Order: sequence, then C-alpha cells, then structure tokens
Amino acid sequence: MIEIEGVTFTYEGSSKPALSDVNLRIEEGDFLLVTGLSGSGKSTLLRLLNGLIPHFYRGKMEGRVLVDGIDTREASVASLSKKVGLVFQNPEHMFFSESVYEEVSFGPKSLGMSKEEMEGAVRWALEQVGLWDYRMRSPWSLSGGEKKRLSIACVLAMKTDFLAVDEPTIGQDSLSKESLLLTFKRLREEGKGVVVVTHDLEWLDDLHPDELILLSRGKVIERGPSDMIFSSVRDLAINGLIPPCKYILSTLVEVK
Ligand SMILES: Nc1ncnc2c1ncn2[C@@H]1O[C@H](COP(=O)(O)OP(=O)(O)OP(=O)(O)O)[C@@H](O)[C@H]1O
Ligand SMILES: [Mg+2]
Repeated sequence: MIEIEGVTFTYEGSSKPALSDVNLRIEEGDFLLVTGLSGSGKSTLLRLLNGLIPHFYRGKMEGRVLVDGIDTREASVASLSKKVGLVFQNPEHMFFSESVYEEVSFGPKSLGMSKEEMEGAVRWALEQVGLWDYRMRSPWSLSGGEKKRLSIACVLAMKTDFLAVDEPTIGQDSLSKESLLLTFKRLREEGKGVVVVTHDLEWLDDLHPDELILLSRGKVIERGPSDMIFSSVRDLAINGLIPPCKYILSTLVEVK
C-alpha cells in the first residue's frame, strides 16, 4: 500500500508549493487516474511515489509517504523502485541499449532475476504493449508513440506491485491508445495498483477508474468516481478541462 499523508512540497528556488496538503491511499488492485491542467502538480505527485522526491528533486517536503509501511525518506530510490515502477512523461531520453529487447531486459537483470525468469518477463512486457515483433530494432528507430510503449514495457518487466504512468497517450494514434487501454485493463485484472496521469479525459473515461483525482495548483480539488466528476461539466470547464463528449451532450440536453 502507498500512503501519502499531508504532503506539501516546494521545489528548491520556488516560492509556491507544487503540491499542497495532498492525502492519498493506493492499494494493490486500485486504479487511479490523476488529471489537471499543465503545471497543476501531476508529475510531482508521481515523483513522490518512488522516492524521487525527496531523494532526487531538491526542495522542502512536509508530511510523509509510506510504501508498504516504509517512509520514503528512510528508503533508497533503488529499493522503492522494486515496488513502484514509474514511467516518465518524456522517457525517450533515457534509452541506452542497442535493441528494444536489451533495453527491456536491463531492469530485470538489475533485479537479479534468473535468465529464464528475465526472458519470461521481457517477452510478457513487450507483448503487453504490442512491441514483441520490434524486439531486435534499435529503440531510437521507434516512433514517438512506440517509444512511449517501450518505456512502459521497461517498467512492466520489473514486475512491481505498483505502476505509475505519466501521460501514456501523448503522441499515440487512436489504435495505439486502444491497445494501451487493453494493457491497462489487463494490468488491473492482474491486481496491480495503477496510477495514470493524463489530460486525455475522453480516453480515461473508457478505463472506468476506481477514483479520479483532479489537481489544481497543487491541490486535490475533486476526487471520486469519474462519472461524478465528469458530470460537473461546468466545474471542469472552469478548471480549463474538457470532459468526455457524452457528458457534454447530456449537459446540453439538460439545459434545453
Ligand atoms: N524540477 C523542478 N524544479 C522546479 N520547479 C518544478 C520542477 N518540476 C516542476 N516544477 C514546478 O512545479 C509545478 C508542478 O509541475 P508538474 O510538472 O508537477 O505539473 P504537471 O501537472 O505534471 O504539468 P504538465 O501537464 O505540463 O506535465 C509547476 O509550477 C512547475 O513549474
Ligand atoms: Mg507532467
């Protein structure tokens, strides 16, 4: 379980907190979606989950984050990363292997998996994101959307209990988005705790998340079932977000 308790975080050199008094509990099997405008603190929230904040990003942190009962201040990012896999918003800068296969096998190798276990994990992860047939290609030869899927596979192969993905649909066409939808549905069935950050409200509605969290200026301003939040079309519009089409249509019908 991941517990975020009263966290306020201000990046070094900044006068305003990027997150203010955030409280959140994520259990294995939970499926959470986090949305909000650019700069609302979504990526910052994810950085809390595997200890990048406070270990990597400098700043002032109040409150605490517990991963399976361990305070992230007391644990290394390496040990937390065995429990929480994080896919960055712009992960392509991080590829360093000659082939897609090698890239995905790096994580399992570093965890000390046996050869057999590693091969199984790499194949499973690449199949999950539809890139098994690309395994001999250079990561740099992939399209933007394929690179994003590769970065998801790299984290999946580490078989963590929790997975957090920052903006998975950016640069993806509708077919890739559809296949990502399936990937997330399967991960949910496997009982992983999943947190997805996205602006893509139309896409996330199809995921039927357990909980949708709306951030604004570092604060959680709405949380609850997505139906409930999307139905407040006016509130979303005030916060600069466009709800999925069907909710706009039903609001228009009500107004008439
Ligand atoms: N490394 C950093 N150093 C200083 N300030 C930062 C850093 N990263 C983010 N911030 C600031 O913290 C606030 C929240 O940023 P964050 O990246 O979490 O937003 P976001 O919701 O993920 O935005 P986007 O949708 O554009 O990715 C912003 O004001 C941003 O400028
Ligand atoms: Mg972000």
